[in-house]
Amino acid sequence: MSTNNGKKGMVVTPWVVSGDIDYEKLIERFGTQRLTSELKDRIAKHAGYMDPQLRRDVFFSHRDVDWWVKQYEEGNTVGLYTGRGPSGSVHLGHLLPWFFTAYLQKAFDADLYFQMTDDEKFLVKDDLSLDQAINYTYDNALDVIACGVVKGKTHIFSDTEDIDKIYKLGIKVAKRITLSTAKAVFGFTDSDNIGLTWYPALQAMTCFLQSEREGKNIPCLIPAAIDQDPYWRVTRDIAEKMGYSKPAQIHGKFLPGLAQGGKMSASQPETAIFTVDEPEKAANKIMSAYTGGQESIKLQKELGGNPTICNIFSYYFYLFEYDDKKLAEIETKCRTGALMCGDCKAHLAKLVKLFLIDFQKKREAAKNQLEDYLIK
Ligand code: TRP
Repeated sequence: MSTNNGKKGMVVTPWVVSGDIDYEKLIERFGTQRLTSELKDRIAKHAGYMDPQLRRDVFFSHRDVDWWVKQYEEGNTVGLYTGRGPSGSVHLGHLLPWFFTAYLQKAFDADLYFQMTDDEKFLVKDDLSLDQAINYTYDNALDVIACGVVKGKTHIFSDTEDIDKIYKLGIKVAKRITLSTAKAVFGFTDSDNIGLTWYPALQAMTCFLQSEREGKNIPCLIPAAIDQDPYWRVTRDIAEKMGYSKPAQIHGKFLPGLAQGGKMSASQPETAIFTVDEPEKAANKIMSAYTGGQESIKLQKELGGNPTICNIFSYYFYLFEYDDKKLAEIETKCRTGALMCGDCKAHLAKLVKLFLIDFQKKREAAKNQLEDYLIK
């Protein structure tokens, strides 16, 4: 697979996300719409409150969300679709879109189809066996459940284990995508295995799965990080020919890792907080994170820190300080040199520990209920 390298080394493809990410550029490059405050208010109205991820523009871009919301407002059933490539443990970066999906699910009373692409991960990763990928499907499903998705309206499925429920729709989609389109959109080359060139049909298929199963056209919205967008462009091109509406998307940003630059990535375990990390160990990772602080306490007091480039500050922003006043206070104290990085990290470490203790309880509880969330 080739990767399209933009300015400042920014790479955003379904397989590689690296460099300084310029979200404005991505809106332009991918031809999407910025989420307007009017649209955010409309979503919030149905939910009863505005999710912090909406308020803070963590979800920042979309296609056709206005149409999807309108369908709901006119009394039609609407559906949600998201997924995960199960190649390892889940980290905090993965949770952001899942929390947001659970919020949307409750607000719009929607069924959620959650695809576990164990086939994709097996095909992409040289060192991952198929059995390992499938094991991660059911392990990672616990994290999805712990995010608060709705029992009875959530259908988690594995591409391999549930192939009988998806193959027919998959080949209908595959018939409409040419190899030249797949090459142009995903950058496949002749040395890629042929499993990979087929896989996009399966990821696209889920956009129509609820419609196909219920025998009527159900508008589908996909909350996901923006790197998955190429799939939806291909899907939108074939949707109407298949007799379905184009799926809508709402795009999220990436949670940074604990090192300087880049998103949180499982391939650098020291710089990611996994949901199964021992809370004390996670706290230690926070304590050794990169910050926007000065080299010494003396300089920090004189010059202040820079929250704009600070990972610790971004964790407060994305997940751990949803009170705008308190967030502003952290920012001011940092900039004016009143807050030292050590104290700021220690406070975050405590919050991360509490979060993990609580999340791990929910994850444990999910083990007894897993069956209820799997596709039937
Ligand atoms: N390809 C995604 C990954 O590697 C998994 C996935 C499948 C997905 N369908 C999705 C992600 C829909 C978001 C939305 O993680």
